[in-house]
Amino acid sequence: MVTLTIDGQTVQVPEGTTILEAARQANIRIPHLCYLKEINEIAACRVCCVEVEGERAMVTACNNPVLEGMVVHTNSPRARTTRRVNVELILSQHDCRCATCVRSGNCQLQTIANDLGILDLPYQTQLPLGLRGAWTTTFPLFHDYNKCIKCMRCVQVCDKVQSLSIWDVASTGSRTTIDVSGNRVIKDSDCALCGQCITHCPVGGLRERDDTQRAFAALADPNKITVVQVAPAVRASWGESLGLKREEATMERMAATLRRLGFDYVYDTNFTADLTIMEEGSEFLHRLKSGGLVRWPMFTSCCPGWVRFLKSQYPELTNQLSTAKSPQQMFGSVAKTWLAQKLGVEPEKIFCVSIMPCVAKKAESELPTMATEHGPDVDLVLTTRELVRMIRADKLNPALLPEEPMDSPMGTHTGAAVIFGATGGVMEAALRTASFLLTGENPDPDAFRDVRTGPGLREVTYEIAGIPVRCAVVSGLGNTRKLIQRLKAGKVHYDFVEVMACPGGCAGGGGQPISVEDEELYGVRGERLYQLDREAPIRYSHENPQVQALYQEFLGAPLSERSEHLLHTDHKGWSMPNQL
Ligand code: SF4
Ligand code: SF4
Ligand code: SF4
Ligand code: FES
Repeated sequence: MVTLTIDGQTVQVPEGTTILEAARQANIRIPHLCYLKEINEIAACRVCCVEVEGERAMVTACNNPVLEGMVVHTNSPRARTTRRVNVELILSQHDCRCATCVRSGNCQLQTIANDLGILDLPYQTQLPLGLRGAWTTTFPLFHDYNKCIKCMRCVQVCDKVQSLSIWDVASTGSRTTIDVSGNRVIKDSDCALCGQCITHCPVGGLRERDDTQRAFAALADPNKITVVQVAPAVRASWGESLGLKREEATMERMAATLRRLGFDYVYDTNFTADLTIMEEGSEFLHRLKSGGLVRWPMFTSCCPGWVRFLKSQYPELTNQLSTAKSPQQMFGSVAKTWLAQKLGVEPEKIFCVSIMPCVAKKAESELPTMATEHGPDVDLVLTTRELVRMIRADKLNPALLPEEPMDSPMGTHTGAAVIFGATGGVMEAALRTASFLLTGENPDPDAFRDVRTGPGLREVTYEIAGIPVRCAVVSGLGNTRKLIQRLKAGKVHYDFVEVMACPGGCAGGGGQPISVEDEELYGVRGERLYQLDREAPIRYSHENPQVQALYQEFLGAPLSERSEHLLHTDHKGWSMPNQL
């Protein structure tokens, strides 16, 4: 242990602890901006500077370890002045028009500048105008060079966590900026659109393409029937930036809120998560029994970030993806056929909007393969953050709205569908139904709980009806790359692999609300989803009564000709990089 003094307080911490962490343990907060624990510890911003007795220069607290007998002052006049000047210098290279910034109220730079009482900009503003500023505005990910503070978090997250290295430092000196690596434009890169760089950006340097105005326009169009679906993981997070407790932010309040926004029909992507299990589970059993999984497993296909990753990094494995469309896309194709018939409306009038925890879903909905004779399955995708902005724009207060049920029939779902939003959830839901299909009996709903996991890899083999089923669950693309390399080297063999691009799955998705405290929230959100599963009256996808009705009235059976046409896709029908 090392003993030191911080602001007059004696602190004991293990050797190797940084000054910042030591101070945190003593409940002393040192302002910081670029630091991201274990991911970005490069001391780029120098906002965390403290004064250490005996040291001539100021010391960055985020990357300097404590030393025995060290005496640290976090708020001495020198420390205050240094911090203030460093923030003022950052502001001099930053577009400070907070009124038009998507991160206003949720921005670490804004908070620090306000906290320090910086009311004026003493240095001449020098924005990186004239650089490669013409961003491809149609791409679902938007980089604002003038908001970027060059903290390097996105570079490191994409590199260390997602193993894609899309970002890099470009230019030199005062023209230094962060840009797409290899002198490419973003649409020509292998970006998976996981959005993890957005959720780890401390300012408005990165955001999703804003589609809220298109949504408002559709809601105001009398010729459109607006149908909205809400993804599983959104229910665990949407209340965070609206001041709602997780238990208050119910789907019934969500339904009331979406109706107040003007949506004609409010449905649940969980309905088609259950449908996905029927299709993907049947496909898996077919591949397993026909010997199609001897060398390579079947991979889940519901995460478009993962599909983009596979197609750009390992295109030779594309056939191993389940052909099932994602629940989002299945929803659209069912809404424009079966639902249109039931409602007695022209399919072309239906405008299908998705609320997703995800940026990649925007790109997925625009693929040429995600359409039928009635047009695109899904017309518009909004992230959870965009939904929150729309709620704010209309000055709605969901806490004051009554709880209302979702519309029928596509609002009906099971607990198995809810857990799609957490890593391991798709696998667990699929195993519940696969077990039923193989044995004719429902397993204990928690029989496959071992596949639940945080980020990283989980491997479990289950014996179902005498058949060993080798399963793996992985989230985060860096972890996924390691798994595929082990598969390729023949070190591991699986039958069924669930992959989610975002660490922790969609609960930690790139379209989810951003924590200004840099908390990783996939854990608590995932817990909420598992709680909803436990409380659900039905916990098996094959028991969803409206999914059963859909098969009886319209599709026939899983993998029927109509199911194949509407619910499955050709992953080879488009290529990466994807020209959006
Ligand atoms: S885009 Fe955001 S995360 Fe990336 S360097 Fe700029 S400020 Fe940092
Ligand atoms: S969206 Fe994901 S893959 Fe694309 S640049 Fe950001 S972190 Fe990298
Ligand atoms: S894990 Fe979920 S949020 Fe992340 S890219 Fe995949 S589908 Fe989107
Ligand atoms: S937080 Fe320490 S240098 Fe940026």
